[in-house]
Amino acid sequence: MSAMPHLDQELFSAKEIRARINALAEDIARDYGTDEILAISILKGSFVFTADLIRALAGHQVHPLVDFMTLSSYGSRSTSSGTVTLHHELSLPVDGHRVLLIDDILDTGLTLQTACQLLTRQGARDVRTCVLLDKPSRRVAPITANYTGFQIENVFVVGYGLDYNNRYRHLPGLVSMKFEDSSGAP
Ligand code: PRP
Repeated sequence: MSAMPHLDQELFSAKEIRARINALAEDIARDYGTDEILAISILKGSFVFTADLIRALAGHQVHPLVDFMTLSSYGSRSTSSGTVTLHHELSLPVDGHRVLLIDDILDTGLTLQTACQLLTRQGARDVRTCVLLDKPSRRVAPITANYTGFQIENVFVVGYGLDYNNRYRHLPGLVSMKFEDSSGAP
């Protein structure tokens, strides 16, 4: 039986995403007040979300420092592997900073949990989390994001930075994928 993954339906349009990110930026700006934020984007999936979120924050007079770390858990599969690998470290010191961790999707929670632990060990003053998508039904690690764009069912989503085998990251909206075997069964 060969898998034949294909794009299915658009769950959230670019316009809906933009509106939701503006609302998130408003919440974040209100909560942090004048405190400086060190925004840390977990690559690769969150690069589009991060770019739009920091510019939405600028619209609320919030100008975070920005850094990146590369963690991965999916590899080339469509479900999380359960092992989180750190591929690229931060370049800025986190010691004493208020960190806002940004990720595209919170699935099992292992990636975000690993990142939070790393940053806490490195001396962050506090660590909050902001995710565009949350799949609560898939959670393994006991973690809840402080800021969530959309909650979704257990569907595989691509677009707006999210990939399947490094494809589809360019799509402007968030689109579900269907995995069917050659018998047509889901
Ligand atoms: C995805 C996503 C999150 C993580 C969430 O990354 O970007 O970082 O998985 O899954 P979890 O909650 O089960 O840990 P992925 O490993 O696909 O790497 P990528 O961002 O480079 O595509």
